[in-house]
Amino acid sequence: MTTQEQLPMVAIPSMNDTHLEEMIIIDKLDTAIANSDVDTIAKLISELLEHTTIHFANEETIMLEAQYPDYQAHKSEHDRHLQELGSLVNYFERTREPKAIYAYSKGNLTPWRIHHVETMDAAMAKYATEKNPH
Ligand SMILES: [Fe+2]
Repeated sequence: MTTQEQLPMVAIPSMNDTHLEEMIIIDKLDTAIANSDVDTIAKLISELLEHTTIHFANEETIMLEAQYPDYQAHKSEHDRHLQELGSLVNYFERTREPKAIYAYSKGNLTPWRIHHVETMDAAMAKYATEKNPH
């Protein structure tokens, strides 16, 4: 379970709201995995993929509008992560095997998200707010 205190805050409040929404989906996913509730797992990983797709597109718009110099590096991390999530959704549809989702959630999904927010998101939010103060 990730707590709200573990979620790093960035300089753009709407981004923090989005990150929190995703953390709630991931926490629900962890609960569904613990209960081996395959229907709920299937629903939540699709929901997570959909939410993350919109979330990343919104961040990319902010970066483009701010003419952020590290846009390409940040976008390729987003693309890589989305591809991974997409493969996970396909894998689960085929196997309905919660163990693989558990391993991915613990070993990759949550650590990657916290690290990404702390580093790339924090840097781009700082740059964008300094460039275009709201
Ligand atoms: Fe990002």
